[in-house]
Amino acid sequence: MEVEANYDEAAVGEYTLPEIWPDPPRSVEDRIRIWPERRKEILAQFETVLYGRFPRDNFSVSSELFEEGDMIPGEALRKQYRLTFTNPRSGAAKSMDVLLVTPAGVSKAPCLCALNFWGNHSTTDCPEIPVNPNWMRWDEKLGYTNHRAEENTRGVVSHRWPYRQIVEAGFAAATAYYGDIYPDCNKGRREGLAALFDHEDDETAAGSIGYWAWGLCAMRKFLTGLESIQSDRIHAVGHSRLGKTALWAAANDERFAGAMSNDSGCAGASLSRRNFGETPGWMAGVIPWWFRPGFVRHADHPHDWPVDQHMLLATIAPRPLLVTSAVEDTWADPRGEELSAVHASSLYAFLEGTVDSPVSDGRAIASKKVRYQIRPGDHDMLPADWAAALEHFSED
Ligand code: GCU
Repeated sequence: MEVEANYDEAAVGEYTLPEIWPDPPRSVEDRIRIWPERRKEILAQFETVLYGRFPRDNFSVSSELFEEGDMIPGEALRKQYRLTFTNPRSGAAKSMDVLLVTPAGVSKAPCLCALNFWGNHSTTDCPEIPVNPNWMRWDEKLGYTNHRAEENTRGVVSHRWPYRQIVEAGFAAATAYYGDIYPDCNKGRREGLAALFDHEDDETAAGSIGYWAWGLCAMRKFLTGLESIQSDRIHAVGHSRLGKTALWAAANDERFAGAMSNDSGCAGASLSRRNFGETPGWMAGVIPWWFRPGFVRHADHPHDWPVDQHMLLATIAPRPLLVTSAVEDTWADPRGEELSAVHASSLYAFLEGTVDSPVSDGRAIASKKVRYQIRPGDHDMLPADWAAALEHFSED
């Protein structure tokens, strides 16, 4: 396993990326017709190499609107739903709380759908949001001790959730706590919604990214049925490990209208074959439960994989895709994120008929549907990142 991360561009090493579509059709019509088949093959490869089989369920889902009110008087409304999932075989049931913020006076809004790291109550100072009772990661700086959230953690990451900015752009935002789905620790699969699945614990079973992505899709399905949401304009959004999640969710669930990954880094937007910042081998040693169990055996050899992350981005085509990075977030390899978006954009342009081959020269974004943004600062989800999403997804 590699121990020291490399931060020297000159030491990234040589690599050859697998082609997104090695034997593509000539006519644009055929490309569009056959792309879904190629896309499925790529998704199957990502299941085998990284994330495990995408969880499929036959749960029954019920929803209860348990609280509503003004979020920002005159500007934004808040609704809180408890979604309860029941496994029909075992009868076991568990729930996830969804906080939905919609622009006041708009009958149907497009929606950014994103999981959060610290509970819905951490995203705003609003006193009406229950403190999440489930397992939390330990973070003394934020006030999370004993793996539980207390009242003092209300609003601790509100800077990451600029609801006013979102509703002012005419969008709704929906969020849920990722730990409601799968608590982020080695034994997490036994708690949370993931525990409802009848598990086959083989080498290709899903890791936590797979379950988080499933949860995001479950949220998307729920939002699709709401009067206040434009069902064909729900976008998957996420920061860091939840950016990896948003990409995997949108890749698998075509009913997401688009995807944004912010600082998602290794196993997210950035290229695994570049030895810069975090590496798959490091992840396999420290956070193996994010991936399928068999990942640990080949994590050190990304050069042998049939996929790299530009292909994950490409599976979102032809839907809008946004990749954002931060200059100081070198662990996530911003250059690797950009290159990945550039290469993926060649596939978009190929489907649009503006280039002859889905292989890029690695220089520039080739399609308007793909956008890359890098801002100053460190690993975080800031108004500048949201602004890019609001702008890019307004152009649908
Ligand atoms: C760690 C992890 C990254 C991840 C990040 C986050 O740094 O190594 O892969 O993106 O946590 O989720 O904040």
